[in-house]
Amino acid sequence: MLRSVILAAARSSRIERLVATTPATRAVVDRFVAGTTVDDALRVTRALVADGLTVTLDHLGEDTLSAEHAAAARDEYLGLLSALADAGLTPAAEVSVKLSALGQRFDEKLARDLAAEICAAAQRAGTTVTLDMEDHTTTDSTLDILAELRRDVPTTGVAVQAYLRRTEADCRELSGPGSRVRLCKGAYAEPESVAYQSRLEVDKSYVRCLNLLMAGEGYPMLATHDPRLIAIGQERAKWYDRAPDEFEFQMLYGVRPAEQRRLVAEGYTVRVYVPYGTQWYGYLMRRLAERPANLAFFLRALRSRR
Ligand code: FDA
Repeated sequence: MLRSVILAAARSSRIERLVATTPATRAVVDRFVAGTTVDDALRVTRALVADGLTVTLDHLGEDTLSAEHAAAARDEYLGLLSALADAGLTPAAEVSVKLSALGQRFDEKLARDLAAEICAAAQRAGTTVTLDMEDHTTTDSTLDILAELRRDVPTTGVAVQAYLRRTEADCRELSGPGSRVRLCKGAYAEPESVAYQSRLEVDKSYVRCLNLLMAGEGYPMLATHDPRLIAIGQERAKWYDRAPDEFEFQMLYGVRPAEQRRLVAEGYTVRVYVPYGTQWYGYLMRRLAERPANLAFFLRALRSRR
């Protein structure tokens, strides 16, 4: 219930203005977001890579409504990729891209063309792109665009969401050679007709999808902070005889950093999803919705500044 309310607020520009202009918001944003500029992104990436972690960088922004803004998002990624290569941070750092930032909502072909430019630039920079997955109305379009992008750049990856009823079938389709698939639980408010609603059902779906990906021929990327699912991932890796470079764990910047380092110390590959940029509102609200403790932290910060 609380989760749906926060996710509904994530779509309200009135609440966005209220949250963005509250000074105490900064402390909470800083926990989950690397900063606003490419230099901030590089600084945080360098520190994580020095600790043995790998990184996927997300330039914040979604639901772009003009071709001009979509082209600006493409330019931001092209600049980021060349800065990463110049700093010697590829292939340790790759990029995550939301197709809605590239115009998917109003012009699918434009989004595909701009994404193709980003994938080609990533390939030149010696690294990869992973497409984020957004709400369920975009899933078919995102998977179609992925298939087209992979014709030229086969290393292009995609996120899939265990809460969607369709995802087990998608994982079966996506478990072929060279396929890079990030398995997450899913962060949007979805209706029962398309998504499991209970935590138990989502977790069970996650395990079924994890089994398919680990048994397949692709490269599974297990994006979760859930200790039980991490343990199941470790166990399945042994079962399917996957070496540490044949799959990876992924977690969000600012969430369970000690666990990220513990897994690295045990020899696992761990990638941290690092968002940067000024358009952090939707991202922050999804993080607050995931965990009541984050909301409490946010409300405490607001109270203490009054
Ligand atoms: P769950 O929410 O059950 O949390 C398990 C435990 O992890 C919690 O008890 C807590 O300890 C910790 N935890 C989880 N979230 C936390 C938070 N925000 N703050 C503090 N602690 C937290 N979603 C999507 O729809 N599309 C996408 O493309 C992506 N991409 C993506 C990339 C990466 C690398 C990650 C890690 C996650 C995503 N997600 C995503 C988000 C994902 O769908 C999901 O909402 C979150 O990862 C939370 O789910 P968990 O699997 O961590 O489990």
